[in-house]
Amino acid sequence: MTWRENFKIGVPEIDKQHKELCDQVDKLQEACTQGKGAEEVKKVLEFLASYTVKHFANEEAFQLKVKYPGYAQHKALHTDFLNQVTKLKKEATENGVNVAMVIKINRMISDWLVNHIRAVDSELKAYAG
Ligand SMILES: [Fe+2]
Repeated sequence: MTWRENFKIGVPEIDKQHKELCDQVDKLQEACTQGKGAEEVKKVLEFLASYTVKHFANEEAFQLKVKYPGYAQHKALHTDFLNQVTKLKKEATENGVNVAMVIKINRMISDWLVNHIRAVDSELKAYAG
């Protein structure tokens, strides 16, 4: 997902992390089009498993700080994503990565992040600055 300026919520640290996440999705999609999805998908899952823990924690801390009313629901979405990543990582380790797996992982990550950053995190704009 190509990063766009209008994805910004106005909190520099969080915006930087969202850009990094978008760049990872781009990298994964590029690898898929070059037929290198299987190699890249494992790296991206590893990356997401650690990076999103840190990113979600930052974002949730911001939500608490500004008394964002949707905090609990938003946190539940983050937890759900982390669980999905953990599950996919386990599946990839145990069964290896075939084309179907690459497509499934690519779709889950892209769809979730695109939707989340654009539709859910954008609500935080009103609380920034
Ligand atoms: Fe979020």
